[in-house]
Amino acid sequence: MSWLSPPAEHRAHVAPSLLAADFTALDRDIARMTIGGADLLHLDIMDGHFVPNLTFGPHIVQAVRRLTDLPLDAHLMLTRPDLYVDRFIQAGADAVTIHIECEADISDTLAEIGRLGARRGLSLNPPTPVEELRPYLRQVDLVLVMTVMPGFGGQEFDPSGLDKIRALAAAREAGGGDFLISVDGGINDRTAASCRAAGADIIVSGSWLFHHADPQEGISLLRG
Ligand code: DX5
Ligand code: ZN
Repeated sequence: MSWLSPPAEHRAHVAPSLLAADFTALDRDIARMTIGGADLLHLDIMDGHFVPNLTFGPHIVQAVRRLTDLPLDAHLMLTRPDLYVDRFIQAGADAVTIHIECEADISDTLAEIGRLGARRGLSLNPPTPVEELRPYLRQVDLVLVMTVMPGFGGQEFDPSGLDKIRALAAAREAGGGDFLISVDGGINDRTAASCRAAGADIIVSGSWLFHHADPQEGISLLRG
């Protein structure tokens, strides 16, 4: 599975978050997003412990894998992602994103994701200072900036994420790693524009995009 190159300047890749899809018609919704021009799919995995909600596991990721050729990013909102990364990669995830606030050893888990052949993603919640990522920036392919407290779709965008995006873009520019910057939570056409201006490479959108009448138009508004 091919991964993403950096997007053209001032533009972004778009990752629909399947959390907002209609799970009775997942094939239809994935097809709509694919035809609409999605660049990858974002899969929210929640354990009911790291976040106060439950979603789905590797079995559904495997089903999604059979429905699309798009790259899949598994966003693991799990207290112990280290116990599951192999199963998500086996199920077909191209990237696995873990949280810096989890209870696993971050370096070891990122190394394991890479060893198993997937892209290594690291995410941080709104209250976590971006400085905490610094020791790991050379070990990741993707940083996922959360602009809501994870757990639920449809929340309001926290603009403090914009400074984090800028700080990450500056760190990368200064030679501190080679990663894509992704942003997740409360993204619509307006907040996406602010994220792109701050330096985001990947825009994740759930509620806004899935409620947009025309996915192609929605995706192109997010892409810039
Ligand atoms: C939140 C998830 C998000 C969510 C985004 O816990 O990580 O990916 O699906 O949904 P919206 O775009 O509705 O905020
Ligand atoms: Zn997510």
